Amino acid sequence: MVLVSGSGTNLQALLDASADEAFGARVVAVGADRDGIEGLSRAERSGVPTFVQKVGDHATRDQWDEALAARIADFKPDLVVSAGFMKILGSRVLGSFPVVNTHPALLPAFQGAHAVREALAYGVRLTGCTVHLVDAGVDTGPVIAQEAVAVQDGDDEDSLHERIKTVERRLLVEIVGRMARDGWTVSGRTVRLGRPTR
Ligand code: GRF
Repeated sequence: MVLVSGSGTNLQALLDASADEAFGARVVAVGADRDGIEGLSRAERSGVPTFVQKVGDHATRDQWDEALAARIADFKPDLVVSAGFMKILGSRVLGSFPVVNTHPALLPAFQGAHAVREALAYGVRLTGCTVHLVDAGVDTGPVIAQEAVAVQDGDDEDSLHERIKTVERRLLVEIVGRMARDGWTVSGRTVRLGRPTR
C-alpha cells in the first residue's frame, strides 16, 4: 500500500509497474493525509481503493497514528510505501508494518521536507535520491538504495527536483519489485513480501 500527499508520480510508477504480474507486487490501497490531491485521482483511475486520514480530524497525533494504522490494516499490506507522504509516521504504524520511504537527497544529507532547496542552497554538485526503511526519526532509517544526480548550472529547485524524481521513480520501482520477489534484509531486519526470503 502507498501513502501520498501530493502529485503521486512515484505512486503512478508503482501502479504502472504492477500492471505486469512479473513485478511481483500490486498496490492494494492508497492512503493520504489530505483531500483533492492528484495522487488520489491516480489511484481512483487505476481502480485502487483510497482513504484519507487527516491529522486535524484527531485530538492528538497519537490518535491519528492509531486511526491511520487501523485504516492501513484493513488492507493487510505486506509493505507500506511512503511516496511523497509529508507527515511523520507514528509508532503504531511503524510498529505494525514495514515502511519504506523515498527521499529526494542522498541521506543522511538534507533530511526533511526541503531537501532539494537545501541541497541547492548549500551548493552541492551532486545530490540524488534514497530509498530507506522508515524508523522513528525524520529520514533516518537504514538506507536500502541510493542513486546520484548531478546538479547542473542554472538549476532551480523545480528543474533539479524533476531530474531527481525521474531517477527516484525508477529506483523505487526497482526496490519494491525486488522486495516483492526476493525479500530484503536491511540492518538485520528481513522484509518479506509475497514469498519467504531465501
Ligand atoms: C518526491 O521527490 C519524494 O521523494 C518527496 O516528494 C516527492 C513526491 O513526488 N518526498 P510525487 O508526489 O511522487 O510526484
